[in-house]
Amino acid sequence: MRPYRDEIEALEQNGITRVAFKRMDDPTVIPLWFGEGDTVTPAFIREAAKRALDEGQTFYSHTRGRPELRAALKRYLDGLYGIDVDERRITVPGAAMLGVTIAAQMALTTGAHGLIVGPVWPNIDSVFRVTGADVSSVRQRLTGNGWQLTADEIIDAVRPETRAIFVNSPCNPTGWVMSAPEQAKLLAFARSERVLIIADEVYHRTVFDGTHAPSFLTIARDDDPVVVVNGFSKAWAMTGWRIGWVVTPVQHEIHWTALSECFNTTTNVFCQLGAVAALEQGEEFVRAQQKQFARGRELVDAAFGAHPLIDYVSPAGAFYAFPKVRGCTDSMAFAEGVLAEEDVGIAPGYTFGPGNDAHFRVCFAQSPERLEEGLSRIVRYTERHFG
Ligand SMILES: Cc1ncc(COP(=O)(O)O)c(C=O)c1O
Repeated sequence: MRPYRDEIEALEQNGITRVAFKRMDDPTVIPLWFGEGDTVTPAFIREAAKRALDEGQTFYSHTRGRPELRAALKRYLDGLYGIDVDERRITVPGAAMLGVTIAAQMALTTGAHGLIVGPVWPNIDSVFRVTGADVSSVRQRLTGNGWQLTADEIIDAVRPETRAIFVNSPCNPTGWVMSAPEQAKLLAFARSERVLIIADEVYHRTVFDGTHAPSFLTIARDDDPVVVVNGFSKAWAMTGWRIGWVVTPVQHEIHWTALSECFNTTTNVFCQLGAVAALEQGEEFVRAQQKQFARGRELVDAAFGAHPLIDYVSPAGAFYAFPKVRGCTDSMAFAEGVLAEEDVGIAPGYTFGPGNDAHFRVCFAQSPERLEEGLSRIVRYTERHFG
């Protein structure tokens, strides 16, 4: 008998790293494959972390995150959404990804069903599968009016044994944004059926009108079955820091304490002190990034918008484009071809779930000059092979 669980044996490397591991650190590649730009974390955040190290902040901290970080998170969330969130609901388990992992562990197990709104970032699918639960997805529709999915369509995909629904809005990879009324409808269902919503809001600041996307935080009561996952990676350009937070039902305070201790017992103290600076002084930077991402979207619109070989709708949020290439049936071959012939790194569509093998994903968070060059090379490759 093998010592490993079947769910672990069944795990596969995702398509993004399958492509990227080939030439990840090659400076001749324009990297549009990962969810990050080329902006270094701003100096005031780095300085705060350096100061913490110099002051000897190298010890264990509170399991659920430093009190001053959790207080700063409360102030940030209250100010952004006009709410009064109970601080007992906030935990800093590590990166956002760890927040999703722990939330999934809380609700899912063998015999349960987990429902994922797709297309979805492949890491989420793995997190759900590792629990032993049965996993399926309900896919957004690509319409002339953008990617669409209603709360009713999600509810229709729920089964009697469904324990968790994963919703990522704004969405990686499509940019779909769930509206506040649709969120309210799904929440009412989750409340009455006692199904956990795992709301991944890591792109909450990457929207092209307004300051933030609609959040489940503005409608959820303290004890509702909703875990809102968020992080510093995207809005504050802190992908390498591995820090994020969750807002959870108040009655699960002790459970999050115990589970955080099972995983990473919060994250590095000096990163937490950098994160406090991000929250307290970072608004100007976040807004400058929003402008850069808007410029990135304009460049993608210009490259793919009217192209006869490409079906593309401009994303409403996040910093990805998820176009479809007419005639493409093998997205992995497409991504490998673009890398080999044009030195541009993109993510193959298949890895974002069923129905996506004609798609590819590009991240448009890179600075405009590099992005524009990368996009024109992708178009050149597409015309050479599919024209
Ligand atoms: C939808 C989604 N959730 C979570 C994450 C992970 O965020 P973190 O870097 O905080 O783990 C990402 C990163 O790309 C993402 O796209």
